[in-house]
Amino acid sequence: MVWSSLSLAQSPEFSQGNDAPDMFNPAGPNAESIQEIFWVVIGICAVILGLVGTTLIWFIAKYRERPGDNSEPPQIYGSRAIELAWTLAPLLTVTLLAVLVIATVIKLRADPPSTAAHRVRVVGHQWWWELNYPDHGFTTANELVIPVSEPDLAKPIYLQLESADVCHSFWVPRLAGKTDCIPGRTNSMWIQAGEPATYFGRCAEYCGTQHAKMLIRVDCVSQADFDKWVENQKADAVSDDSVAAGRDRFMEMACMNCHAIRGTRAAGEFGPDLTHLMSRKTICSGLALNDRENLTRWISKPDDLKKGCRMPDMRLTEPDVKLIVDYLLSLK
Ligand code: CUA
Repeated sequence: MVWSSLSLAQSPEFSQGNDAPDMFNPAGPNAESIQEIFWVVIGICAVILGLVGTTLIWFIAKYRERPGDNSEPPQIYGSRAIELAWTLAPLLTVTLLAVLVIATVIKLRADPPSTAAHRVRVVGHQWWWELNYPDHGFTTANELVIPVSEPDLAKPIYLQLESADVCHSFWVPRLAGKTDCIPGRTNSMWIQAGEPATYFGRCAEYCGTQHAKMLIRVDCVSQADFDKWVENQKADAVSDDSVAAGRDRFMEMACMNCHAIRGTRAAGEFGPDLTHLMSRKTICSGLALNDRENLTRWISKPDDLKKGCRMPDMRLTEPDVKLIVDYLLSLK
C-alpha cells in the first residue's frame, strides 16, 4: 500500500489535479480508528519480530558450530513445558489481535453519532464514479462535496455503494477504509471530516485497464458553501445562446446518448452527468484539470488521455471540437 501511494505520487499527471492519498494523516473518526488499530497491530508484531530476531541472532552466535566440537547437542523430546509454550504463545497473540480487530470492525460498522446525515449513492463505473444525491435529486461525478463537521455537530455522509459493471472499491484513506462496490449488491459506509480540505482517494479494486486512473476527490467545505453548491447542482444547466452552435453539435453527435445535461434533450446515463461540468475541478475521474486545453484533448482523442476508456473517438473536426468545448465551458 505504501509503495503504491509512493509510486503514484511520483507520476506527473497527478500533480495536475489529484495528489496522492495520505494514509497516515486521518481526518475523520473512521480513519482514526483504523489508524489506531494499525499502530497497535504494528506494535505487537514489532515486539514479536524483535524477540524472535534477537533470540535467533543470539542462538546463532552462542550455539554455532565450533572447530573440533563434533558432539551431538542435547536432544529434547516431548517436553511439556516447551510444547505448551509454543502452542499458547501464538494462540494468545492471535486471539488478542483478533479481539482488537473485531472490536474495531464493530465500532466502524456502528451508525455515526449524529442525525445530521446526508446520503450519497456512489456507483462505480469503468472508470469513473457516479455520485447521486437522492435527497436533493441531482447527479454529479468523481468529486464528492460534503459539509464539514463541527465540534458539537457531526455531519456524517452515508454512502450507498453500487457498481454498474465490475467490482470497484471506494477508498479515501484520510476519511475511512475501503468498501467494495459489487455488481448486484449494495454496500454501505459513512465518512465524516472535521476540517475543510480536499481528500484524495482511489479505486482500490482492480477493475480493468484504467483502474489506476479512477480517482476520487472529496471536497469538504463549510455548510454555507455546501448549501450554495447544492443549490447550483439542483438547477438545470445554464442555457447560454452564445454557445448555441456548440449545444447543437453536442445534441447532433452521439454525445447525448451517454451524457445527461438537465434542461436539454441529453439524458444518457452511461457517462458522467455534465449538467454542471464546470463546477468540477478535474475531468476523466481526477486525471486532468478541467480546463479548455484538457477538454479539447479529451474530446478530440479520448484514448490519448485514458487508453481504452469507454468514451469513443467521435472523429470530430477541429471546428466541431472547439464549438462543443465552448458549450461545455458554459456549463457552470
Ligand atoms: Cu474501479 Cu479499480
